[in-house]
Amino acid sequence: MIHFEKIKPEDARFIFRLRNERVTRQMSLKNSRLIGWKTHKAWFEKTLQKKDCFFWSVFFKGKRIGLVRFDEGIVSIHLLPRYRGKKLGSPAICEATKLYCKKRQQPAIALINPMNVASIKAFEKAGYVPARKIFLVQENGKKIAALKYIYRVIG
Ligand SMILES: CC(C)(COP(=O)(O)OP(=O)(O)OC[C@H]1O[C@@H](n2cnc3c(N)ncnc32)[C@H](O)[C@@H]1OP(=O)(O)O)[C@@H](O)C(=O)NCCC(=O)NCCS
Repeated sequence: MIHFEKIKPEDARFIFRLRNERVTRQMSLKNSRLIGWKTHKAWFEKTLQKKDCFFWSVFFKGKRIGLVRFDEGIVSIHLLPRYRGKKLGSPAICEATKLYCKKRQQPAIALINPMNVASIKAFEKAGYVPARKIFLVQENGKKIAALKYIYRVIG
């Protein structure tokens, strides 16, 4: 019921809207400011070029419900607001992670804002194991705590 499709250049607007969604900005470990179109476009084009980045749209029953991205082994997932709270996050994370780990043969890492209870629960249910609390420096220079979770390939 869940499937993934590689992000294409024409998905720029869809990704822009998701990145600027309220909860997504609130929970961001980088900054909580809205992202401008030019900044987004430059980031998006650069991200699409990256060899070590897996960037997919998430579909449920044929409808696009969000995005999932593995960038240098670090995963992020964003569902459209209307599809949140419906228990779709953990199966999407789990299936995407299995695909990623199979292709890459390496563990996946999630860095989660400690306030983000839905994300913590969804990643734990998907098989991610808590590693430790770390501190990151945000774009404004402030320190922020993040919970590091790891998904290890078995076998
Ligand atoms: C994080 C996210 C992927 C989780 O997926 P989801 O399908 O909404 O999550 P679920 O419906 O499976 O809920 C997971 C758990 O969190 C709980 N939960 C959901 N929203 C919550 C909230 N605002 N506060 C507290 N708990 C919450 C649910 O009750 C559920 O708990 P349970 O499994 O014990 O019943 C999704 O909510 C999302 O896209 N959020 C915005 C972007 C984001 O924060 N991404 C993560 C960055 S790494």
